[in-house]
Amino acid sequence: MSDCGADRTGKMDAPRKLYVKSFGCQMNVYDSHRMADALAKEGYVETSEASDADLVILNTCHIREKAAEKVYSELGRLRKAKAETGRETLVAVAGCVAQAEGAEIMRRAPVVDLVVGPQSYHRLPDLLTEARAGRRPVDTEFPADDKFDHLPAPSLAATRKRGPTAFLTVQEGCDKFCTFCVVPYTRGSELSRPVAKIVAEAERLADQGVRELTLIGQNVNAFHGLGPQGRSWNLAELLHRLAQIPGIDRLRYTTSHPRDMGEDLIAAHRDLPELMPYLHLPVQSGSDRVLKAMNRRHGRDLFLDIVERMRAVRPDIALSSDFIVGFPGETEAEFEETMDLIAHVGFAGAYSFKYSPRPGTPAADLSDQVAEEVMTARLHRLQAALEASKRAFDRSCVGRTFDVLLEKPGRMPGQVIGRSPYLQSVVVDRPGAAIGSFVRVTITEAGPNSLAGRILPIPAPTSVPPLAALEA
Ligand code: SAH
Ligand code: SF4
Ligand code: F3S
Repeated sequence: MSDCGADRTGKMDAPRKLYVKSFGCQMNVYDSHRMADALAKEGYVETSEASDADLVILNTCHIREKAAEKVYSELGRLRKAKAETGRETLVAVAGCVAQAEGAEIMRRAPVVDLVVGPQSYHRLPDLLTEARAGRRPVDTEFPADDKFDHLPAPSLAATRKRGPTAFLTVQEGCDKFCTFCVVPYTRGSELSRPVAKIVAEAERLADQGVRELTLIGQNVNAFHGLGPQGRSWNLAELLHRLAQIPGIDRLRYTTSHPRDMGEDLIAAHRDLPELMPYLHLPVQSGSDRVLKAMNRRHGRDLFLDIVERMRAVRPDIALSSDFIVGFPGETEAEFEETMDLIAHVGFAGAYSFKYSPRPGTPAADLSDQVAEEVMTARLHRLQAALEASKRAFDRSCVGRTFDVLLEKPGRMPGQVIGRSPYLQSVVVDRPGAAIGSFVRVTITEAGPNSLAGRILPIPAPTSVPPLAALEA
């Protein structure tokens, strides 16, 4: 094995190089960052090329079959590259596929040196020592302690590289057991982090230049973290507290479940200017029968009622959602109910998927699986309607004025790309603009992937100086 970098006595020579690839959701991305932060302490620096790395971590996703299979094709590529270059790269598989099929991965892919589940990332340094000794460890335990306690916070350099927006995990796992979903098995039962730790992490990120925080959790609005004085806080209380942190100008949260959209969370959208007027609220289907079979624990009416209440407190709110077509037994008429729901709501964005039977989930055993070609046809219709709805929303933004948080240089000289309150990419001309600053922009054009706008000569409110000057 390559053994440059810090040796067992702590001496340093050339740094080891680390390549981490995320295949999953925002929490998967957050975890990748935490792994990179933990390994930075071990002398690893990140590289953007797998071929250049001493350690490759594939952070996998098990949510649908296609996502899970990706890891095996990636491992095949790595095996070939290793054989061609002769480079002794350690290969680790992390994430939800690791959790679900740890031993199977080791059997199917001899190129893999270690498997680590999402609850064990703090043990990575020890696992690497074992892997270097050729022991091929598999760690998919669910430890009782809080893994976050053992993972280091990001360094200033890491945060700067990641830009002025950051994810922050506040809750992990799920107890809802929707009949199609693997998350309760791969991430375990619902666990909220204590408020003080979340606040400390948010303050540190704000000090490092982060302006926008997205609180993440598989069931983020079920958050019930231990607060000061031993009382449990809900998500609305947490958002109010985080909004007080100087430098945190924007807050978002994802992913919410309709069942947990409490009155005070809805009210927070009225009361907190920092809370962006955009809500991702998965509904999956517009049919009550399908929702029941999915064990979603709510019907179509509850979802529509939430939409109405959100719009009452925050008329400029935009909504996005997740949909599954072809859940076992879904009839044409039930699919039409989903089409009807989207026409009624007018979503500004959405993710939609064909149902994918997942091993170990109740729906995979249902006898009335929907034919592939039926699912394909339904998905096409659904996606065409959702795309039209998104384009209509984007066009309705032309002429409106938004504060845009500048995130990265654009493709053309002098161009900068930022985000609107609705998560749209906005391209503006501002040579020399500072990444991490806000500008006030009137939207002039809505393209298929981004908006274009003109910066107004009025400064947008920024509470603290931006992250770094941009060479334009
Ligand atoms: N916790 C969130 C979503 C988690 S997974 C929620 O409760 O909604 C993200 C999305 O993947 C889901 O909203 C669902 O639309 C989709 N998904 C999950 N399992 C799936 C499966 N077996 N087949 C197809 N799509 C699935
Ligand atoms: Fe999966 Fe349902 Fe839990 Fe969401 S609420 S993570 S879809 S089981
Ligand atoms: Fe995928 Fe695991 Fe996230 S299954 S969606 S990476 S929680």
